[in-house]
Amino acid sequence: MMNRTKHIPVMLQEAIEGLNIEVDRWYIDATFGQGGHTQEILSLGGKVIAFDFDEQNIIAGKEKFVTEIENQNLILVRENFGKLQQTIEQLQQVDEISGILFDFGTTSEQLTSADRGLSFSGQDQELDMRLDQRLGVKAKDLLAIMGQKQLQKIFEVFGGETEARKISKKIVELKRNGQFITTVSELVELISEIKHHGSRNIHPATKVFQALRIAVNNELESIQQALPQALEVIKSQGKIITIAFHEGEDRIIKNYFKKWEKENKGIQDPKKVLKPSEKEVLTNPKSRSAKLRGFIKK
Ligand SMILES: C[S@@+](CC[C@H](N)C(=O)[O-])C[C@H]1O[C@@H](n2cnc3c(N)ncnc32)[C@H](O)[C@@H]1O
Repeated sequence: MMNRTKHIPVMLQEAIEGLNIEVDRWYIDATFGQGGHTQEILSLGGKVIAFDFDEQNIIAGKEKFVTEIENQNLILVRENFGKLQQTIEQLQQVDEISGILFDFGTTSEQLTSADRGLSFSGQDQELDMRLDQRLGVKAKDLLAIMGQKQLQKIFEVFGGETEARKISKKIVELKRNGQFITTVSELVELISEIKHHGSRNIHPATKVFQALRIAVNNELESIQQALPQALEVIKSQGKIITIAFHEGEDRIIKNYFKKWEKENKGIQDPKKVLKPSEKEVLTNPKSRSAKLRGFIKK
């Protein structure tokens, strides 16, 4: 297998404890990635249906977990978790789902890989940003199609970018002169002319890149669609565990869980959001923004 950047699973212990794995029961890992959480569920005797919409992750997963797939302890599905319920209903060997895990966002490998346009170091890379190659619209297409107000909104809402207006104005100004932003380096350069490196050494283009990735992959919409389906497919006393990495994701989850509690559909467990330990943040700085929530169905 080709050499892959290793993704360190975030809040692994907390997520697995929350799911309370029982032998021979079925669990859904809605965000397979490199299979860090899946592996842990399997090692505790649970069975897993794992989703990922990124074909490369599914191909690599099939190589990594050959035996588990042969033994029918793991079913790997290349699908958007927005289609959770219909996919599960088609699987005949699965009777009851005891828990489901969502570990949102991207793997380290996806962020750094050479051909996706998500990494600032990928100078001449096309601004693609699709995690699911079946999606029709790339980031460069969004930049070409959208007007100033729409781009500003995306940068603000999905990225929290404070210079969203200036950046979107510049993009639209260039378009008027027939200059379209199509590569990583062009976008990085444009942003760097407006913003400078902050004191915390965070790249000035970070927020705009995050915002475009979320828009291209319809990330928030999929979460919005998937959570009610998750509640529907798990058994009574089954558990949903979510790990979110930014405010937009966490807000959707928090609102659903609160609403469901009011509707008497179950309870939040843990009662309050969990954050990674200091030790985890030190060993894996990418975990620093993680927020874990849980819900037990009545
Ligand atoms: C943070 S990673 C998960 C890492 C995984 N828990 C591990 O330990 O390796 C998130 C994964 O979810 C996938 N993903 C994101 N949105 C998705 C969606 N709507 N449908 C299916 N997979 C999705 C991404 O392709 C990525 O591989």
